Amino acid sequence: MAANWKMNNGPTSAREFMQAFLDQYPRQNDRTVLFFPPALSLAAVASAIADRRDILLGVQNVYWADQGAFTGELSVGMARDAGARVVLVGHSERRHVFGETDQQTALKCAAVERGGLIPLLCVGEVLDERDAGDAESVVVRQLHAGFAQMTQLATRDVMVAYEPVWAIGTGRTATPEDASAMHSVIRRELKSLCGDRARVTPILYGGSVNPGNAPTLMASPDIDGLLVGGASLDASSWLAVARS
Ligand code: PGA
Repeated sequence: MAANWKMNNGPTSAREFMQAFLDQYPRQNDRTVLFFPPALSLAAVASAIADRRDILLGVQNVYWADQGAFTGELSVGMARDAGARVVLVGHSERRHVFGETDQQTALKCAAVERGGLIPLLCVGEVLDERDAGDAESVVVRQLHAGFAQMTQLATRDVMVAYEPVWAIGTGRTATPEDASAMHSVIRRELKSLCGDRARVTPILYGGSVNPGNAPTLMASPDIDGLLVGGASLDASSWLAVARS
């Protein structure tokens, strides 16, 4: 169950949020909770979860070079050093607001693999692509492109999130049937990329998830978890989603 805070919660509000959340969220052995705070708040979240092995920390983005003159960027090594285990790659806001290409997602996933962290590759079609009947081909293309330069897919942990772009932050969720259908396409494609390991690769759904729709989504075949933006910004709604 993954909370993507996007550009919200600086260090002070991150600390307050974590205190409110952890007070009410005892360890649950059947799930892992992930937090993707903004990079400036990594330290605050890392210290709050220091004794919680059921909660992982991630970064929202990285650059693929190891170090150097790349003003404003973060490397995988720095993210690891700050306590991150997972890296979001190809989130739709990276793709559609910042112009990230499939080729760049591939470089980022490869850098994440080299650096020993877990990529959480986000894929999803825009509304015009869905209306044109191209949703599946877009998602399959993004999936293969993103993992194209990873060399150890058969043995390494990866995660995928299906986030139809028209459902992100819009209040419009994919139906559990549509989400589930796309997740089974992703599972099928993962088999060709990762072999047997695809059976245990977590495939998350994201896009206007809230406490009301989370249980139905989680009950749907092939939906292994949720990637949540807006509803992860309020401790009580995130608690409800994380428990669903
Ligand atoms: P949302 O965002 O839950 O606010 O729709 C999801 C995401 O972008 O990961």
